[in-house]
Amino acid sequence: MRLERHNKIATIVSSDFKQVLLLEHLGISLVVGEKTVQEVCDENHINPDLYLCFASLFHNQPLPQVPHFNENDVQTMVRYLQNSHRYYQTERIPKLQNYIQILSQQNQSQGSKLLENFVQNYINEITEHFEYENNVVFPYMLSLASHQAPDSAYSVIDYKEQHHNIDEALADIKGLLVKYLPINEDEKLRRKLLNCLFDLEHDLIIHSQIEDHLLIPLVEKFEANELNALPNNNVQIEDKKNANLSEREIAVLRLLLEGFSNKEVADKLHISTHTVISHRKNITQKIGIKSLAGLTIYALQNNLIQLTQP
Ligand SMILES: [Fe+2]
Ligand SMILES: [Fe+2]
Repeated sequence: MRLERHNKIATIVSSDFKQVLLLEHLGISLVVGEKTVQEVCDENHINPDLYLCFASLFHNQPLPQVPHFNENDVQTMVRYLQNSHRYYQTERIPKLQNYIQILSQQNQSQGSKLLENFVQNYINEITEHFEYENNVVFPYMLSLASHQAPDSAYSVIDYKEQHHNIDEALADIKGLLVKYLPINEDEKLRRKLLNCLFDLEHDLIIHSQIEDHLLIPLVEKFEANELNALPNNNVQIEDKKNANLSEREIAVLRLLLEGFSNKEVADKLHISTHTVISHRKNITQKIGIKSLAGLTIYALQNNLIQLTQP
């Protein structure tokens, strides 16, 4: 069924109960009566085209051809994503941890211990992923969408480059559980655990599609507009010529100008991505230049880098 603005929300939810989560993550009350998508969205100040994109993803349908999204849509997307992070962290992950602990108590085999470690490492990884998005990416996007100059040299391109699929490891966990792991006398536990993993995987796939296919392209567009509106960097260079960068900041700057991403710089200097972002922020504050093109000019003028002949 192709979802349309005139469809009743109650009909959509009745045919696909998982859409309840969509309402919850958007902060819409489940008591929707006979109201249509258009009516509920109008009441909640949500773009109905964006709602239909989300609902299509929940319905395992491809994203519809979408008209132009705007700054308000960034806010709606970020709200949805923040609420779903909270839901994973307070409900889904504790449930998964609980099942894995019971499994490990029931089955003392090496395989069960390894699976427990694998799941715990995975949980640590996605927790770090959510915290990075909550603390760095989303605040940046919201300030860009509200036309406030973000106070860092961060770019959505950094996020895009390092944004990886957090649902992939779940397929391995499911495979191990189905194919190899005997569970002593409690097949119900295996079923519950698998159910939990399938649900989490389904949610995370939708979540990542919203980030990769809706949010990132939209913010890239805003970012391009913002950079075009910046004043001529050459003027700023004269004022900030003598900025005092630390050795570590210079090392970060050189690598960034060589074209390495935040993550690659972090790996090369054996520091965290957060530290690289913090150095970028300090560099920008000290010399007052945001764009990589402007930073290149600054670095050339101050003999921090040299142009190599092709
Ligand atoms: Fe996320
Ligand atoms: Fe993500």
